[in-house]
Amino acid sequence: MTTGRTQMPMTATGVTTHVWGPAIHVQALEKSYEDVEVLRGVDFDVARGSIFALLGSNGAGKTTVVNILATLLTADAGTASVSGFDVATQAGDVRESISLTGQFAAVDDILTGRENLVLIARLRHLRDPGGIADDLLDRFALADAATRRVSTYSGGMRRRLDIAMSLIGTPPVIFLDEPTTGLDPQARIEVWRAVRELAEHGTTVLLTTQHLDEAEHLADRIAILHRGRIIVDGTLAELKGLLPAATVEYVERQPSLEDVFLALVGDDGTDGDAGTDRGVDTDRGRR
Ligand SMILES: Nc1ncnc2c1ncn2[C@@H]1O[C@H](COP(=O)(O)OP(=O)(O)OP(=O)(O)O)[C@@H](O)[C@H]1O
Ligand SMILES: [Mg+2]
Repeated sequence: MTTGRTQMPMTATGVTTHVWGPAIHVQALEKSYEDVEVLRGVDFDVARGSIFALLGSNGAGKTTVVNILATLLTADAGTASVSGFDVATQAGDVRESISLTGQFAAVDDILTGRENLVLIARLRHLRDPGGIADDLLDRFALADAATRRVSTYSGGMRRRLDIAMSLIGTPPVIFLDEPTTGLDPQARIEVWRAVRELAEHGTTVLLTTQHLDEAEHLADRIAILHRGRIIVDGTLAELKGLLPAATVEYVERQPSLEDVFLALVGDDGTDGDAGTDRGVDTDRGRR
């Protein structure tokens, strides 16, 4: 199977109902690579069943935070727990309660979508791998493509399959490191739908992103990591409240390129209202 996926094994009994605190708790986390201080005291909590977006520029340390939480890296100082388990002293329990999906889809091209899912369910010793696969294919709108080789899938379909594979064994916490980087607008919307569905099913989602609109559309809470610390952490409304109140002025809102793209192409891959059969009046405004 292709490398890149971090599979966290599940116990037969499932995990962690004994904790009542936040799904993820991070306090005073520090991490340096040699003399480069990347995290200098990071604090945040993620409530159960919520979607938390960690924003930051390239190199801000987002992946470092995720890797510490996923027990792939050790922090220099501070504490972090996932599902009530300490990442440093209870790494095994943490791994049983999480799934980590990295930036690049780690699906096997030679297999079909369904075979990929069945394979993971078998590796996890779950009962009825076929049933689990069919259920996930439905949930992620991949049923029609179930028996096609993944090499024929679009980027968005691969990403959805990748996320579906992460869910096998129903981990209560899922980390998505830049889930939509490199995807086109429709595929991003499909992934957003899938992520929202996860939270609706009770999964806690921590995602990293550089797309501000992604955080705006998806997240219950947003934190910005900058120069090694979380500089703001709150709901979108709280973050917007940090700026001075808007003054009322008349502005003609022009559609964004994304609005135009989605109107022409449709957000589910079908032609939108302004489909090409009607044509776009390219002479408009020339007069
Ligand atoms: N193994 C490593 N050794 C040395 N430096 C590293 C290592 N891993 C990461 N870094 C550095 O730590 C900083 C944070 O990296 P990290 O990958 O966590 O950032 P990021 O916010 O995920 O960035 P991006 O948006 O580009 O994915 C960067 O300056 C990076 O170069
Ligand atoms: Mg990163």
